[in-house]
Amino acid sequence: MSDKIAYSRHGDIAVLSVRNPPVNALSQAVRQGLWDGMDRAEADTGVRAVLIVGEGRAFFAGADITEFGKPPLDPFLPELINRIEASPLLVVASMHGVSLGGGLEVALGCHYRIAVPSARVGLPEVHLGLLPGAGGTQRLPRLTGVEAALDVMTTGRQIGAAQAHKIGIVDVVQDGDPTQNGIAYAEKLVAEDAPRRPVSEMPLPTPIDWDAAFDATLTRSKGQISPAWCVRAVQAAYDGDFAAGLKAERQIFFDLMQTDQRKGMIHAFFSERAVGNLPELKGVEPRSIAHVGVIGGGTMGAGIATAALLAGLRVHLLEMTPEAGEAAHGRIAGNLAGALKRGKINADQHSTMLDQALQVVTNYDALSDVDLVIEAVFEEMAVKKAVFAELDRVCKPGAILASNTSYLNINEIAASTSRPGDVLGLHFFSPAHVMKLLEVVVADQTAPDVAATGFALGKALGKISVRAGVCDGFIGNRILSTYRTCADHMILDGASPFEIDAALEAFGFAMGPFAVADLAGLDIGWAGRKRKRAEGLDPRARDVTYADKLCEAGHFGQKTGKGYYDYAGGPKARVPNPDVLALIETERAAQGITPRTFTADEITRRYMAAMVNEAAKVVGEGIARRPLDVDMTLLFGYGFPRYRGGPLKWADIDGLTGLLSDIRGYAQTDPYFWAPAPLLCQLVADGQTFDDANKKG
Ligand code: CAA
Repeated sequence: MSDKIAYSRHGDIAVLSVRNPPVNALSQAVRQGLWDGMDRAEADTGVRAVLIVGEGRAFFAGADITEFGKPPLDPFLPELINRIEASPLLVVASMHGVSLGGGLEVALGCHYRIAVPSARVGLPEVHLGLLPGAGGTQRLPRLTGVEAALDVMTTGRQIGAAQAHKIGIVDVVQDGDPTQNGIAYAEKLVAEDAPRRPVSEMPLPTPIDWDAAFDATLTRSKGQISPAWCVRAVQAAYDGDFAAGLKAERQIFFDLMQTDQRKGMIHAFFSERAVGNLPELKGVEPRSIAHVGVIGGGTMGAGIATAALLAGLRVHLLEMTPEAGEAAHGRIAGNLAGALKRGKINADQHSTMLDQALQVVTNYDALSDVDLVIEAVFEEMAVKKAVFAELDRVCKPGAILASNTSYLNINEIAASTSRPGDVLGLHFFSPAHVMKLLEVVVADQTAPDVAATGFALGKALGKISVRAGVCDGFIGNRILSTYRTCADHMILDGASPFEIDAALEAFGFAMGPFAVADLAGLDIGWAGRKRKRAEGLDPRARDVTYADKLCEAGHFGQKTGKGYYDYAGGPKARVPNPDVLALIETERAAQGITPRTFTADEITRRYMAAMVNEAAKVVGEGIARRPLDVDMTLLFGYGFPRYRGGPLKWADIDGLTGLLSDIRGYAQTDPYFWAPAPLLCQLVADGQTFDDANKKG
């Protein structure tokens, strides 16, 4: 018997217990073990029913994703599930933890399903660029109806046991030990002489308008194709018998397996888990954090405080005056009310957070007891240094002092305190209680346990934390500044902001760069440009000033109703602001530029080339540890389409040689901006990819 499946007898019930930690992925050995276990139960005299149950954390988390992209190994999951379903014995699944993807499909191949109340089920294959490929698209609709089945498989969301019971996936929900529950349920079914109940033999539910559902799903998925193909796979159930439906599903599954979207999404899955896994922090114990201070209660500070409260931490928020404190309290209350409304917290938690865990104070001395403090005050070095001097004075020894600066030099901030080892950057993205990205900026003297605490805090707050080194803009904003500059150069040369936004939204970005700038506030970029000009621009750099004129006229984007777009009809009904083109034309004329046209492909190509080239510099300089750290930064903080895996995964798939050759071509007219990244040149020379660099760690 396989060491992955334990076989035991309980009267006339055979129990197949799955032991494949951490999450019982359905690897080849597990599939083989289940097959052999079914054979053994059927040959075992007196057995009348088989119970399949997972040990440890889950029933099954699905197919073993590490096997994807490799030649498939026998026995295949669809055949195994058919074999389970066809057994002459009664087969029962007892579910706990998660039953996802192929895991839920195994349960659907059983004749009866029981689950503990905390169990969660789902078909998340679309998040990997795939669809359920082991009968899920054929069996689930027979249990739940088409609409509910398509909802589960096209969204990939997990649903709880109660909901799963309501829509017909689970027969019984019962608290207790999954094995004991399962045995008792199987015994009851045997005693009642309950019939085998293969889902594949159940009648098909009423069909829907397949083309309309396909189109609607495609639109909703913003360029990702696998959700819409779930519709076609379910539709195939109506074109022939069950075997034909399974065959059609399998074909679509294999077709999707060959797509770049599948490669991008699986890269995202593993990279998301790898970012927090840094060799230098292995075995380093983080400091314990229960009580957090936040300096500044604007949008960012209030968001950070909200995130900390939602994670169950105590928060002292410092504002300069009682009035500002009142306003900060209002912002946090608004954020928490939103969390309450969306069901993220209940009424008791809401009042505990707002009335007990949060204290708004106006005196630094009130921060003497915090374990970690994050400042989110005005972005100016002198202001930050004044804040850190006060923190250095009042905070207890061992407290961690963090800055939420988005570009200032953390080494300089740290040097202004008597405890630079306790200082680091924690760069949140607004709104901080919603956005998933956290850049943990490790300065020259940051102690290892302080860096480890940054990651531990990120985890507690539900963030994806990426390690960044110190430079202007760290990982994300530095790369943003470069690709945004590239967009401005294209504008000077003839493209419009609206063409650029349209091209990048078609590429898959949630929003184009100019719509994003309007949302963030044009004053932010304006301040950055003024700062950089004051520091002195390199004489070889092209300066772009048309956007300054918008700001000088008081147009800061959505918050003032006008920026690149006009928002008179509301944020969703934006229309191009006609004044913008006139400002651009004036600047082109002043710089003596004759505009030319740009195709959408050329816009995307240049924009991506600028992004990848800067990203390669960021990795080459050690600001980001690995290419995957950049990929996750852009995915979780900058609206990069997940199904493309991140800019460096995109570059690998597109081909580094062609990209470098384009960059060298662009450099003919602007060698300063388009200087190729040494790492990119090196990888091309060595015939390697960014993924190869990831593997080197
Ligand atoms: N295959 C291989 N490894 C898996 C896995 C899977 N299906 N699911 C999780 N893991 C690994 C993770 O990579 C991680 O490994 P490391 O510890 O080495 O980093 C480990 O298991 C624990 O996972 P998490 O850190 O994610 O733990 P969690 O408790 O936060 O979440 C989970 C657990 C909900 C199961 C989550 O891991 C998850 O969503 N997994 C993916 C589930 C999925 O997509 N299943 C469908 C697979 S496709 C399929 O089944 C196709 C088909 O129809 C035939």
